[in-house]
Amino acid sequence: MKIKNICCLGAGYVGGPTMSVIALKCPEIKVTVVDLNTNRIAAWNDENLEKLPVYEPGLAEVIHQARGRNLFFSTEVDSAIEAADMIFIAVNTPTKTYGEGKGMAADLKFVELCARQIARIAKNDKIIVEKSTLPVRTAQTLQTILDRTGNGVHFEVLSNPEFLAEGTAIEDLLNADRVLIGGKQTESGKKAIQSLVDVYAHWLSPKQILTTNLWSSELSKLTANAFLAQRISSINALSALCEVTEADVDEVANAIGTDSRIGPKFLKASVGFGGSCFQKDILNLVYLCRYFNLPEVAHYWEQVIIINDYQKYRFAKKVISSLFNTVSGKKIVFLGWAFKKDTNDTRESAAIYVADHLIEDGAEIHVYDPKVSETKIKADMRYLWELNGLSEHKIASKLNQIFVYDNPMEALDEAHAVALLTEWDEFKTYDWETIYTKMYQPAFIFDGRNILDAAKLHAIGFEIKGIGKG
Ligand code: NAD
Ligand code: UGA
Repeated sequence: MKIKNICCLGAGYVGGPTMSVIALKCPEIKVTVVDLNTNRIAAWNDENLEKLPVYEPGLAEVIHQARGRNLFFSTEVDSAIEAADMIFIAVNTPTKTYGEGKGMAADLKFVELCARQIARIAKNDKIIVEKSTLPVRTAQTLQTILDRTGNGVHFEVLSNPEFLAEGTAIEDLLNADRVLIGGKQTESGKKAIQSLVDVYAHWLSPKQILTTNLWSSELSKLTANAFLAQRISSINALSALCEVTEADVDEVANAIGTDSRIGPKFLKASVGFGGSCFQKDILNLVYLCRYFNLPEVAHYWEQVIIINDYQKYRFAKKVISSLFNTVSGKKIVFLGWAFKKDTNDTRESAAIYVADHLIEDGAEIHVYDPKVSETKIKADMRYLWELNGLSEHKIASKLNQIFVYDNPMEALDEAHAVALLTEWDEFKTYDWETIYTKMYQPAFIFDGRNILDAAKLHAIGFEIKGIGKG
């Protein structure tokens, strides 16, 4: 079947960029991205492309070309569902914060709501594509809901997980290592797979498009994220050993990464990985393993998270111990709040957890991030503290320990220490000699990303501490 009309439920970090690229590359297909969040849709439709809800290099240009031509953002969910031949589900699947599986399982309530809505509205056959990251065998649940609550039309469920990374989303989409499409190995399943293959074939070569059965596709997404995160936790675990043995973690990473069997990517030691997915997806994997009574497998993957938590805590502890065992009333400047550079996304950013530890110890946290607002930073901390059950009074008092700046130089004035949390390129270009003269002595820098020139900063007079540096 030739696809003419696509609808995507969820206009977030995945739905927005992926559908924009499909629309750009398939001008004969009408693509409508819908969301329940009216503010988000208004931002996607904003004339001023600086106001798009997602910051991604290259995204504004793609939107500029396709929006209004064959790409539309709307809150009219029902009519978009009705008109579509193919419906992507790209809604959020966060870790459950309540009930059975709390803190571990993926919360599938938004996905289930989508399935029920599609079933209620659809008056003709449709292909339903899982774009959200889901536990293996979710397609079965979706199929049951669609068939049991629908109007007797045929639904073919496909799995098409997304592998883009934030900050490089457009590049990743335009030139994907691979796209993965899983479907039932029946005649109608194979036809549906082919319809989606044909969409991607507008710009990707056949060898970039992998097809599998449904369950392999669903599980491959969780597996890919688990493997990527595992590499980071492995190098971060060794960074602790480097710090006490005078080995240098970047040298170790380079030495092992040049072995072609290991490879150089994802071996950058850091203050810990963040982002909306690694932790959520591994917790989900751990939960699934326990559910299927595989405790040893669950335990194995859980270590990736345990090491990541340890790394964030270790960083905060190092700040406190270096500052003579107290940060009470001291001004600690956070350079960066986003979970990585080139994104405005702060979900699960290491900065949040490091700030929490330091604030608990009485520090004042002064933040500068080129893309993250004060509202967002305070909302991140509030969310964590509410989750931890802190009283409103306590939260209000802790929020008073956070200050946010538009100008990094102002933030750095009379600081006791700098903690570099995000690897924004601009931090490398700062006038560190001047900064040194503005700070209290001894002036400390904790480089949580190992991006600054440590030898140069040391020569200026800074006490510089990187990750995995003796
Ligand atoms: P997001 O929170 O940015 O966006 C999800 C959107 O879905 C929200 O705007 C929400 O309002 C909307 N939504 C929820 N229920 C809806 C409904 N019933 N109808 C219409 N809209 C609805 O999330 P995201 O980062 O885009 O992630 C979406 C999924 O993609 C998750 O499963 C995630 O694990 C996966 N994923 C994310 C990334 C990433 O880099 N962020 C990469 C690969 C996969
Ligand atoms: C990650 C995966 O890379 C994507 O393939 C996947 O689609 C996505 O998760 C998802 O499912 O959401 P993302 O989280 O956007 O993408 O960004 P990454 O580049 O993977 O970085 C994740 C975190 O790990 C960041 O905090 C980053 O700073 C950290 N990281 C990454 C390191 O500390 N060291 C590294 O070597 C690489």
